[in-house]
Amino acid sequence: MSQTIAVIDFGSQYTQVIARRIRECQVYSKIYHYSTTAEQLKADGVVGIILSGGPSSVFAKKAPIPDRGIFELGVPVLGICYGIQLMGHLLGGKVSRSDHREYGHGTLTIRRPGRLFAGLPKKLRVWNSHGDRLIKLPPGFTAIGTTDNSEFAAIEDLKRNFYGIQFHPEVFHTEGGVDVVRNFLVGVCNAAQDWTTADFIRRAVADIRATVGKSRVLLGLSGGVDSSVAAALIHKAVGRQLTCVFVDNGLLRQGEREQVVSLYARNFKIDVRVVDASAIFLRRLKGVTEPEQKRKIIGRTFVEVFEKSLKTIGGAEFLAQGTLYPDVIESVAIGNNPAALIKSHHNVGGLPARMKLKLLEPLRELFKDEVRAVGTACGLPREVVWRQPFPGPGLGVRVVGEITRERLEILRKADAILQEEMMETGWYWKVWQSFAVFLPVKSVGVVGDERNYAYVIGLRIVESIDAMTADWTRLPYELLQTISSRITNEVRGVSRVVLDISSKPPATIEWE
Ligand code: XMP
Repeated sequence: MSQTIAVIDFGSQYTQVIARRIRECQVYSKIYHYSTTAEQLKADGVVGIILSGGPSSVFAKKAPIPDRGIFELGVPVLGICYGIQLMGHLLGGKVSRSDHREYGHGTLTIRRPGRLFAGLPKKLRVWNSHGDRLIKLPPGFTAIGTTDNSEFAAIEDLKRNFYGIQFHPEVFHTEGGVDVVRNFLVGVCNAAQDWTTADFIRRAVADIRATVGKSRVLLGLSGGVDSSVAAALIHKAVGRQLTCVFVDNGLLRQGEREQVVSLYARNFKIDVRVVDASAIFLRRLKGVTEPEQKRKIIGRTFVEVFEKSLKTIGGAEFLAQGTLYPDVIESVAIGNNPAALIKSHHNVGGLPARMKLKLLEPLRELFKDEVRAVGTACGLPREVVWRQPFPGPGLGVRVVGEITRERLEILRKADAILQEEMMETGWYWKVWQSFAVFLPVKSVGVVGDERNYAYVIGLRIVESIDAMTADWTRLPYELLQTISSRITNEVRGVSRVVLDISSKPPATIEWE
C-alpha cells in the first residue's frame, strides 16, 4: 500500500492536474470531496494534504469550507490559490475581498527558499488565477515569496509544516511548478516515490472488478488509442464479460476493419462484434456535399447503429468508454457547487441515459501520455498506442464534396501508399498526422501517349502538440517524390498529387 497524499477538491478545474503532477512524481494521491472529515483522512493514513484552488470566494454564502480538524492531524498541508485563502481565513489571518481578478503570468520573488522552493531560481514566472488575496498572515506563518500584487504570495509555518501559495504550481505555464509539488511531497511530507503505471493498472483492475461484479460490459471500439486502452484494461479485469462493438461505417481506411478484428480477437481473445453498416451510411450520404451536414449524418447514424447493435447483443449493465480527462476538463461549475462540477462529455452522446446503461470510464482521470503508458504496460503494440489520430467521421471528411464508393476507393489506395512510405522511413512516428485527401477536381495528365483526365490527391502532413495549432511538415523532397510518383502510377483515377502547405490557423488540419 502506497502512502497517500490527499488532494482536497474545492471545485477547481485543475484538481486533476494536481493529481497528475503528483503521479509524475511517482507518489500516490487520492482526490477527496471538500466535505471529507479529518477522521476519514486519518483512517486512510494520509501523509500530506493539498488544498486545491476553486472558483469560490471564502466570503461566499455557500463557500466550500473543509473540516477544520484537517489542520489538527499533524500532517503537512499545502494550500493552492483558494487553498491559501482558506488557510488565511480559517487559521487567523485576513483575506481581502476583491472584484478584480489577477489572471495570467506574474513573477514570484522567492524571499526564503526553505524546503518548498529548494533548488529553484530566485525568480519564477508563475501563473495566477484568483480574485481574493491574503492581506494578513495567520499566527505562526512567515512570507517566503512575494509578487507585485501580494506580499504574501507564498507563506510557511515551519513548526506545523503548513504552506500556502497563491499561484498554481500544477499548470504547465508555471516555471518549476512540478519541482514545487515534488518539494512538498518528498521534502516536506517524506512521501515514498513508488507509485507506477503498474500500480495504476492494479488499482484500476480491482476497481473495475468491484464495480462490474458479474455483469456484462459493452464497449464501442474504434481502434483508436483511448478505446483500445480502455478495452485492454477492462478485459484484464473481467475477461469475457466484455464485448466490444466495432462499427464499419464504410469510411474506414484500407484494411482497417481486418486489422482491428485480428488484433483484438486473435491476440487478446477479446470478444469483438463487427457491425457492417457501410451500406446505411453511404446511402444516407449520397448526394450530400456540405461538410457540416455530412458530419451530422455520420454522427446520427453512428448512434443509431450502435444503439441497435447493443440491443441485439443485450443483457449488459455497463457501457464502457475511453473518456480521458481532457474530454471532461471543459466542464462548468453548476451554482459554484464543486460536487456538481464535473459533467461528463460522452463520446457517444445520449446513449447511456436512453439505454439505462451505467457508464464505465476507467481512463477518465488520465491524460493522453498516461493512457499511452497504460496501453504499453497492458501489452498493446506500438502501432496502436502511438497511432496518429483519426477523426470520428473517418474518410467522410477527407473526400471533399460528395462521397461515393469510387472516390473512397481511390482515396484508400492513395492513403495506403502514403502510410506505407511514412512507416518505411520512420516519419509516421515523427509527425502528428499524415493522410491523403480526395479532391473532386479533375485535371489533365498524360499516361503513355494518352490523355488522362482524372482526380487530384492532396497530401496533408502536419506537426502539432495538441491539434489546436499545427504546421505543415517539411518532408524530404525525395520522400515526397516517391509518394507522388507511386500514387500517380499505382492508383487508377488520379492524375496529379499536390502538397498542402497551410498551417493551422488559418486552415484546419482536416479539409472538412
Ligand atoms: P481540425 O481539422 O479541426 O482537427 O484542425 C483537429 C484534430 O481533430 C481531429 N478531428 C476529429 N476527431 N471527430 C474526431 O474524433 C471529429 O469529428 C474530428 N474532426 C477533426 C483531426 O483529425 C485533428 O487531429
